[in-house]
Amino acid sequence: TTTSFLTVLLLLQEADLVIASLPKEAHLLLPVVNGIEIYSMKIDSKVTSRFARNVITSRAVNRGNVHKEVFFDVELPKTAFITNFSMTIDGVTYPGYIKEKEAAKQEYEKAVSKGQTAGLVKASGRKTEKFTVSVNIAAASKVTFELTYEELLKRQFGKYEMFIKVKPKQLVKDFEIDISIFEPQGITELEAEGTFITNDLQNVIKKTFSDKKGHISFKPTLDQQRTCANCSQSLLDGDFTVKYDVKRTTPDNLQIVNGYFVHFFAPTNLPQLPKNIIFVIDISGSMSGREIEQTREALLKILDDIRDDDFFNFILFGSDVHTWKEKLIKATPENLDEARKFVRGIDTEGMTNLYGGMMKGIEILNAAHEEKFVPKRSASIIIMLTDGQPNVGISNTEDIRTHVKKAIEGKYPLYNLGFGYGVDYGFLEKMALENKGLARRIYPDSDSALQLQGFYDEVSNPMLMDVELHYPENEISGLTKNSFKHFYDGSEIVVAGRFADINQNSLTVDVKGEGANDVLSFTTQQDAEQTAKAFQEQEYIFGDYIERLWAYLTIEQLLEKRTAATGEEKENLTAEVLDLSLKYKFVTPLTSMVVTKPEDYDNQAGIADKTTEGTLVPSITLNLCITKQTPVICFTVDGDPHFIISVPQKEDAICFNINEKPGDVLSLINDPVTGITVNGELIGDKRANSDANSQNTYFGKLGIANKYLNLKVTVTSEKITIQNGNEKTAFTWLDSVTLQQEGLTLIINKEKNLVLSMGDGASFVIVLHQVWKKHPLHQDFLGLYTLKSHKLSEQTHGLLGQFFHPIDFTILEIHPGSDPKKPDATMIIKNKELTVTRGWQKDYRKDPKHGIDIPCWFVHNNGAGLVDGVHTDYLVSSLF
Ligand SMILES: *[C@@H]1O[C@H](CO)[C@@H](O)[C@H](O)[C@H]1NC(C)=O
Ligand SMILES: *[C@@H]1O[C@H](CO)[C@@H](O)[C@H](O)[C@H]1NC(C)=O
Ligand SMILES: *[C@@H]1O[C@H](CO)[C@@H](O)[C@H](O)[C@H]1NC(C)=O
Repeated sequence: TTTSFLTVLLLLQEADLVIASLPKEAHLLLPVVNGIEIYSMKIDSKVTSRFARNVITSRAVNRGNVHKEVFFDVELPKTAFITNFSMTIDGVTYPGYIKEKEAAKQEYEKAVSKGQTAGLVKASGRKTEKFTVSVNIAAASKVTFELTYEELLKRQFGKYEMFIKVKPKQLVKDFEIDISIFEPQGITELEAEGTFITNDLQNVIKKTFSDKKGHISFKPTLDQQRTCANCSQSLLDGDFTVKYDVKRTTPDNLQIVNGYFVHFFAPTNLPQLPKNIIFVIDISGSMSGREIEQTREALLKILDDIRDDDFFNFILFGSDVHTWKEKLIKATPENLDEARKFVRGIDTEGMTNLYGGMMKGIEILNAAHEEKFVPKRSASIIIMLTDGQPNVGISNTEDIRTHVKKAIEGKYPLYNLGFGYGVDYGFLEKMALENKGLARRIYPDSDSALQLQGFYDEVSNPMLMDVELHYPENEISGLTKNSFKHFYDGSEIVVAGRFADINQNSLTVDVKGEGANDVLSFTTQQDAEQTAKAFQEQEYIFGDYIERLWAYLTIEQLLEKRTAATGEEKENLTAEVLDLSLKYKFVTPLTSMVVTKPEDYDNQAGIADKTTEGTLVPSITLNLCITKQTPVICFTVDGDPHFIISVPQKEDAICFNINEKPGDVLSLINDPVTGITVNGELIGDKRANSDANSQNTYFGKLGIANKYLNLKVTVTSEKITIQNGNEKTAFTWLDSVTLQQEGLTLIINKEKNLVLSMGDGASFVIVLHQVWKKHPLHQDFLGLYTLKSHKLSEQTHGLLGQFFHPIDFTILEIHPGSDPKKPDATMIIKNKELTVTRGWQKDYRKDPKHGIDIPCWFVHNNGAGLVDGVHTDYLVSSLF
């Protein structure tokens, strides 16, 4: 085989080409300390029929006498789409424009090359969470940030929930949250709470509602914001949540405005359907420790909630597949007791035979239906939990999907729960969506058991099956999803559409669903006048809400469909989503928002270049940090060389950093037998950091030599030089080259990477990381990846070379670390015990722009205990 037994990667942090990142220390400067006063922050929300438009406005002034960086840092619900962003600096507004993502990038790069700075706002699916913008403003200058986002509030457990993250980071003179809700059906309850709300603050939340209107205001004074009397710290830090529900005199509600309609369906007081649940649970080795404990805990709680007319079973998969019972089992008290014993005894073993587990589960469910062993009117559900990637049985995810889809045949929804960061979430999502279910992440944290249970609660009360909402086909275009496998109590089905004839103003809908005892079937009729009447009293609500709600829902569903689509279908879906996103100005995964500042402010692109006092607006830098629900992608260790050592037999990786000074040269690979050496020289940021410990370093120069072949290859971020004896050849990164000479093959992929093979076939890939030229701090740097390391001898050493030999480790005692998102553990390696921390590093081979997150165990202190000797042993005097 061509892959080595052990792959060793050395890679570096990429500075985003598109979005300028900021120096770490800048985040630490609290604006108030730094002379920046945020004097106003307002969060204004307007909700019309579940559709919410939120505007966050933050105003700041630089009270100091030098330029200062002002940050606008907000977190948005992952289901929201940004629709507008603007900055106003000293009275001049810089609006954001929505662009196709590629076009936006070009625009940004054009602006940058012209010496302007520009901001780019991009979104990454529904995982988008954090939005950070910084702007450098002159002394005595003011800046206003305004961000708008929209979302459809979903009903869960009987309530619509709106969530606002509050974190002004300093006392704000004029702080206000103002929420207005208009629901034509009438509001039945309205709650508002904040995780940071103390008894004293409780009275500051003003809440009123009557009939169709609800209003919430939260406006704490400066003193009320203090953590204690005379303290300058703000206690506003946490989640502000609003929940409400509407009256339901009929099972559904249809609204028609301006040629669009929206149909809400949430019947109440129906008897529950009995359910047949198959739990397919991963017990592979990687689940050991907290994950399996939390899974047991959640399953025990779930067993307490299973109803006596339900049927259930457990399938466990490690290297093998184990079933608790050969059939579905009725939830009698005795069976539940037996199940509890079984669950308590669940332990981990081996690898991940996800395919075997899934197929067994489906087989048991299919048999129960075929043998008419479960009631005809009952809802069947498969819940699968995994924390890894399939590697036993069929491990090709495409093949698994094909088999699973064929076996389920649309009969039951499949819910895939991905535990932690080692899962192939894309695969889980595709497989669930293809089978009428959904995927959910379970975040490894102290509340993982609750997350699991919470998911079960969402799907534990099916009230209807095969819900179909029929609209007259010839009258409607652009209908969103209108058939649903299950309807769960406490949720709501929303369908929207557009009339083929814009002047049509009435609609008749047939609704049908299979209930526990009989069929629910009725017809609803509505016209635009009735809707208008229901809306009479509203004055503030945006008039196009149904059209935007329709666009939001359509985009959301098309994006979902696109996840599992391929080829022409995917292209068509992409085109459709792009079209709608541009038309309705939604920042979706296919669009970006660009903020460009006028041309007359040139030259001051970098925040580090701000030397002249009193310049009007020296620079605008935007920095968007895209995250999943926890800051995974956002988590970056700036600079220092990251070493990732993958350990295939453990399906895991070890990583460490080496912190040395710019100019130092490290021995990476040294093989006395083949004569190959690889050394790397460190460079630092453009501007030296006064604190030597937080100095960022990168590899700026790599020297690869073969002393027996008298070959030396020097690679910098600018050029590639080959010295063959006395003969010298040089290329730049702008060249595309394939060079073959004795003992050397070199392929340069213009501005991307180069592949180098030497002597007997040991190969290296060097990736060029280009940083935005005017980046205040970072400069271009290199990453090194080794291929075919088995072509090197057993005597190979060096910071990387030593790991070409098989290495094994054991992880024990996973426990919470100083960062709640990153647990610590004890690693037994080379007969030593090390304290390690779970983290992520990026592998840039497949995706040179963004990298792919690789979970790994991080060894602290320059890899102390992991590398042979101490890290300073690897310092060498020169590149060759
Ligand atoms: C975006 O916000 C700016 C500033 O409030 C406003 O002038 C502009 O009209 C808004 N754009 C859209 C499309 O709503
Ligand atoms: C707050 O500061 C004022 C003025 O310095 C002082 O009189 C008062 O006692 C302080 N209050 C507390 C609770 O420390
Ligand atoms: C994609 O769109 C084109 C043009 O509208 C259409 O002819 C084609 O059938 C579509 N293909 C698929 C797979 O939907």
